[in-house]
Amino acid sequence: MTTWTITALGPGDRRAAADAGRLTDAILGSGMFSVGQVLEDLRDGTLLFLTAYVGTPPVLVGVATARVLNDDDYHDFIAPMPPGTLPAAPPSAGGRRIGRLHYSAVTAPMRGRGLGSALAVHRTEWLSERCTEAYAISWLHRQPGRSDGLLKALGWQPVSTLHDYWLPATTTGDHSCPQCGRPCHCAGLLLRMPMPSHF
Ligand SMILES: CC(C)(COP(=O)(O)OP(=O)(O)OC[C@H]1O[C@@H](n2cnc3c(N)ncnc32)[C@H](O)[C@@H]1OP(=O)(O)O)[C@@H](O)C(=O)NCCC(=O)NCCS
Repeated sequence: MTTWTITALGPGDRRAAADAGRLTDAILGSGMFSVGQVLEDLRDGTLLFLTAYVGTPPVLVGVATARVLNDDDYHDFIAPMPPGTLPAAPPSAGGRRIGRLHYSAVTAPMRGRGLGSALAVHRTEWLSERCTEAYAISWLHRQPGRSDGLLKALGWQPVSTLHDYWLPATTTGDHSCPQCGRPCHCAGLLLRMPMPSHF
């Protein structure tokens, strides 16, 4: 059985964030995030940034993030969705605290051993401690190694399939899809995690 160590980055972990950026560029496509922005978000506590390592010396094999969305983040999150998929009102208008699972990537040789699920469990717990609602968009690419099955197994509930969700990010934005290049025509599955009603 493979064992791994999962570490949550702090705002001083510039080098680890840069290593994580290289891993996500290779698996999820280039231009996913800037190290400077990651460190800033870690400083204000709105971002959980997990890295997973195996071996000695430790080799980075997984990266996964979750964040609490501010009004601008939420606007960007829902902008590519068909109108009415999620409420258009910003979270601050209704006192909602909305979170999302964001990036997740495990290196190909390490897949299918439970690491992606372990990273999702940590992030789901982190969101449930902070948010009144939480969402994820699972990238429905055509290769093996998708996240929709493991998220459903952890209790995330499908809401709807979003066609061409990453089209704006791969036309006017900086992102490039590892499968389509630019523009991206992949679909995403929007999922929601039912939250405990203790708020
Ligand atoms: C999605 C991804 C992060 C999952 O990572 P992973 O470490 O393979 O995840 P897990 O091992 O926990 O789960 C993967 C599958 O293996 C199964 N599995 C988990 N532990 C297992 C074990 N011990 N033995 C056998 N199978 C196992 C899971 O049930 C899951 O099956 P499913 O896909 O049929 O639901 C990884 O495949 C990846 O990086 N893919 C490319 C990028 C991507 O799509 N990222 C998600 C963007 S939304």
